[in-house]
Amino acid sequence: MQMKPLGSTSLLVSALGFGGAPLSVQGRPERSQAEAAIRAALESGITFFDTANTYSLDEHDLGHNERLFLDAIPADRNCIIATKGGLARPGGDWTYSGRPQALREACERSLTVLQREVHPLYYLHAPDPKVPFEESFGELTRLQAEGKIEHLGLSNVSAAQCGIALQMAGVAAVQNRFHFFDRRSMDVLDYCAAHHISFIAYSPNGGPGQAARLKEQPLLQELSRQYEASVHQIALAWMMALSPQLIPIPGATRPESVRDSAAAAQLTLAADDLAKLNACVATDAIQS
Ligand SMILES: NC(=O)c1ccc[n+]([C@@H]2O[C@H](COP(=O)([O-])OP(=O)(O)OC[C@H]3O[C@@H](n4cnc5c(N)ncnc54)[C@H](OP(=O)(O)O)[C@@H]3O)[C@@H](O)[C@H]2O)c1
Repeated sequence: MQMKPLGSTSLLVSALGFGGAPLSVQGRPERSQAEAAIRAALESGITFFDTANTYSLDEHDLGHNERLFLDAIPADRNCIIATKGGLARPGGDWTYSGRPQALREACERSLTVLQREVHPLYYLHAPDPKVPFEESFGELTRLQAEGKIEHLGLSNVSAAQCGIALQMAGVAAVQNRFHFFDRRSMDVLDYCAAHHISFIAYSPNGGPGQAARLKEQPLLQELSRQYEASVHQIALAWMMALSPQLIPIPGATRPESVRDSAAAAQLTLAADDLAKLNACVATDAIQS
C-alpha cells in the first residue's frame, strides 16, 4: 500500500488506516475474530491503526482496544497506533472528559497500556463543552513538551477550533466523521489541505449504522459494476481522491470487510466519475 507523511511530519503512514472501535465496543466479536480482522489489515499493507482509551464496553474495560492492538500487532511491524483521550464511558455511555487533569491521566494510562514512553500521535477525542477548548488542548501541548506525545491531533472539531489550536502548537492530524452521505466536514478537510494537516476520515463507510446504505445508492451501484469493485471501495476511492491529505480509517469486525476496504487504496476513478460522485451531494448527502 502507498505510504504518505502524516501532516507535515516525517512520520509515514499507510494511505488508508484501520479503526479499532467495532472490535471493542458493544456488539464486539470474539477475540479470535478481532485478531483475524487486525491480521487482515496487516496483510493488506495497513500500518496506521486508530484506537482510543474509551474503545471498551464501559469504564471498567478502558484500554480494551489499545491492549488488543498491542497484542495483535507484532512489535517489529513498524506500525503507528494512534490513540485519543477526552471522553469517558460511565455505564457504557459516551461522555466528555476534557479537564486537564483527566486528559493527563488518560494520556499516561494509555502510555502504560500501550507499553511505550511516547505516543506517536495523540488526539483530543472531542472538545468538552464544559471546558474551554484552549484548556484541554493546552494540556496536550504540555504533555508534548514533557515528551509524552510526539504529534498532536484533534477530533470532532470545527475549522475555527483547528485555527485556535494552530495558534498554540503544531497539529499533525484532524479526525472527523466523513463519508459519502455525510460531507459536513468538507470545510475542515479544506482547512487541513490548506495547512498541510492530515484529515483522518472516521466512519468512512457510514459506520455500523449506515454502511449497508451504500449498497442502495444508484450511482455507487453503477460504478461498482463498471469498475468491478464494491460500493464501499468506490466510496472510499472517491473520498481519497478529494485530497492527498485525506486518510480514511474504515473499521470492521469481519476480515473480508477489512480486505475489501483496503483494496480501495489501489482503485483510481476517472475524473468524470469523480465529478458525478461529487455532484451526488445535492441529492444524497446530509447537509449541515
Ligand atoms: N474520533 C471519533 O469520535 C470517532 C468516532 C467513530 C469512529 N472513530 C474511528 O473511526 C473508525 C472507523 O469508524 P467505523 O468503525 O464507524 O467505520 P466504518 O468502516 O464506516 O463502519 C464500520 C462498519 O462498516 C462495515 N464495513 C466496513 N468496511 C466494509 C466493506 N468493505 N464492506 C462491507 N461492510 C464494511 C463493517 O462491517 P463488519 O463489522 O460486518 O465487517 C462495520 O459494520 C473507528 O473504528 C474508530 O477507530 C472515531
